[in-house]
Amino acid sequence: MEQSDGLHEGRAAETLGLGFIGAGRLGTALAWSFAARGCRVRAVASRSAPASARLAARIPGCGVASPQDVAAGCDLIFVTTPDDAIADLAEGLRWRAGTGVVHCSAVTEVAALAKAARDGALTGGFHPLQTFADPARAVRALPGSTITIEAEEPLNGILVALATRLDCAVNRLPSGARGRYHAAAGYGSQFVHVLLREAAKISRSWGMSEDDTVRAFLPMLRGTLAAIEGAGIAPSMPGPVSRGDVASIAKHVAALAALDGDILDLYRQLCRRTIPLAEERGVIDAATAARIREALFRSPG
Ligand SMILES: NC(=O)c1ccc[n+]([C@@H]2O[C@H](COP(=O)([O-])OP(=O)(O)OC[C@H]3O[C@@H](n4cnc5c(N)ncnc54)[C@H](OP(=O)(O)O)[C@@H]3O)[C@@H](O)[C@H]2O)c1
Repeated sequence: MEQSDGLHEGRAAETLGLGFIGAGRLGTALAWSFAARGCRVRAVASRSAPASARLAARIPGCGVASPQDVAAGCDLIFVTTPDDAIADLAEGLRWRAGTGVVHCSAVTEVAALAKAARDGALTGGFHPLQTFADPARAVRALPGSTITIEAEEPLNGILVALATRLDCAVNRLPSGARGRYHAAAGYGSQFVHVLLREAAKISRSWGMSEDDTVRAFLPMLRGTLAAIEGAGIAPSMPGPVSRGDVASIAKHVAALAALDGDILDLYRQLCRRTIPLAEERGVIDAATAARIREALFRSPG
């Protein structure tokens, strides 16, 4: 592969030769998305040849190469291996001064790319706040998502231009915030799974399957998301806490106590966190909030 001339000042993002190391769920979806938006994805490397070949097959002009050839031949390299492989991979390669090297992990520090920085490359983070499972589906889901960028100029400007080209919004992350950032992201991702599993555990007690629960709840969940999008978290919040309906909450506590103490524990904690939202809306006063807390934590026996 011929050598690139790197990220010199003023170079347009769409003229950059992009490379990917790691042809998994995110790397494949991101490479396909960039290519579909007119960016030049020139080379891909992965641990296994079939993964690289699958990624490259959908991108005219993209070759399958070794990680070292991607590092040497591309202007901007996306390290899209699993998080725990990023630092070792970066340490094992020779990077070219003036190129850009980014990883796409939420929680891994940019310092995992320290070897690339020592070799003179510009390093950063480019983390899409989106779930990547099936790459073709992820390509459709990516526009409208937010990409979190941690980089200094001129790499920052180039990454912002690339995110914009994908029709994504940009969130800037300061150095040192990744632990908090990744913990927060879980609330928009895997904890939704956890909440649906909790609902399914309760539904199972009268014979409803998890599949049926998910099918029944998804339209409501979509409505919830639309309401939050329209009015914000507190103003759009439904449910008995937001109505100050103490009697209903007491019934929930009694029903769940008879079912499973563990399920009741989470229910109590979630309701407790719901009270300040209802107070913020101004629909319950301090006395009602106190009565809800009392109903929640009263011994059901
Ligand atoms: N999936 C998501 O929803 C998501 C969302 C946001 C961010 N991310 C981030 O994106 C990155 C990739 O995640 P993923 O979910 O796409 O992982 P993945 O599906 O497991 O893909 C990782 C790819 O990297 C390849 N690989 C592993 N070790 C390698 C090495 N030493 N050298 C070269 N290639 C190597 C794998 O090998 P093979 O060639 O053997 O397949 C695989 O194709 C992670 O940093 C993750 O945190 C993921």
